[in-house]
Amino acid sequence: MFAPRMKNIKMSGIRKMFDLARGDAIHLGLGEPDFQPPENAKNALKKAVDDGYNKYGATPGMHELRDAIVEKEKRYRKDLTRDNVVVTAGGTEALMASIFTFIGEGDEVLIPDPGFVIYEPQVRLAGGKPVRYPLFEENDFVPKIDDLKITKKTKAIIVNSPSNPTGGVMGEEDIKAFVDIAEDNNLLIFSDEVYDEIVYEGKHHSFMGKYDNLIYVNSFSKIYAMTGWRIGYVMAKEEYLKEISKMHYYTMACPPTPIQYAALEAIKGEQDYVKKNLEEYRKRRDITVDGINKIEGFRCRKPKGAFYAFPSFTFNISSEALAMKIAKAKVIVTPGTAFGPNGEKHLRLSYANSIENIKKGVEIIGKVVRDIK
Ligand SMILES: Cc1ncc(COP(=O)(O)O)c(C=O)c1O
Repeated sequence: MFAPRMKNIKMSGIRKMFDLARGDAIHLGLGEPDFQPPENAKNALKKAVDDGYNKYGATPGMHELRDAIVEKEKRYRKDLTRDNVVVTAGGTEALMASIFTFIGEGDEVLIPDPGFVIYEPQVRLAGGKPVRYPLFEENDFVPKIDDLKITKKTKAIIVNSPSNPTGGVMGEEDIKAFVDIAEDNNLLIFSDEVYDEIVYEGKHHSFMGKYDNLIYVNSFSKIYAMTGWRIGYVMAKEEYLKEISKMHYYTMACPPTPIQYAALEAIKGEQDYVKKNLEEYRKRRDITVDGINKIEGFRCRKPKGAFYAFPSFTFNISSEALAMKIAKAKVIVTPGTAFGPNGEKHLRLSYANSIENIKKGVEIIGKVVRDIK
């Protein structure tokens, strides 16, 4: 009945936990801000709908939005133009369209382990072979080139900084090392930077502007709390984007029109919203990490970015079984193995939730594990 490509494609472990959650559970499971989008963006969306902007638009997205994205991304590369941007249905479609454009039967793609849940299935669906590279707690989950298994079949590396699920952030030197090894082996880099504005120490270092064979993915989902609006973008050199645009067209036709007006307003308007949320996340991060470290058997490094803590534990139980036990106590967390085998003995806690809920959730986790010791 089903196409062979669907064989071994499983539903994401994050979604499984999400489906388990009952109404009164505390959610530390899902990677989305508890904030609402900025007011000006909500108003722009309502106005766009009322003004009749409800039709198909240009496949790569509307000019004004692509120009605004270019203006923003000139922080990393000065010579960008509108022809370097395609607006997509979130980072998800940006990655899917790009991976389908470049990856074919037998191509090996290096993906982080633990890493965001869509990389592996997207590469598989395209016919490629995902090859994991491990991230280690003792390196603050920053990837190291010595852990990359490059072969003759390697076509691309997927990198994600700040990282979901670890909160790890690559520094300038790490990026240089990845660029050098990609250059030496003629590899593409897919850089997923959807958390670029959620960095707590120092500044975000982008792959943009550092490498030519780059597919850069970003999104409005996390920074402007628009996860349900499905809008993001992919940037690359023009010849790459011409091909990516075909995949995008045959998947989406065009990005949603009224949402583009909202995204335009968000990106061009006052950015205090972004700064305010960052400070709130910082407080929540500290409370989460301090709370988890007080529970015997858990250890949690302070993540430098995104809104996830990725503690390890020493209890004699798998991460999936532990997450299930915690879910029964009505706190939803994600087992580390949802992000790859190297996530075993870890949980992912999303602290994009109120301080009150974080404190309650961490307290319940403490109680659950006291019982299993
Ligand atoms: C690392 C990473 N990349 C991409 C995405 C996709 O986000 P969206 O499709 O909402 O832009 C997510 C969402 O959780 C993510 O965590």
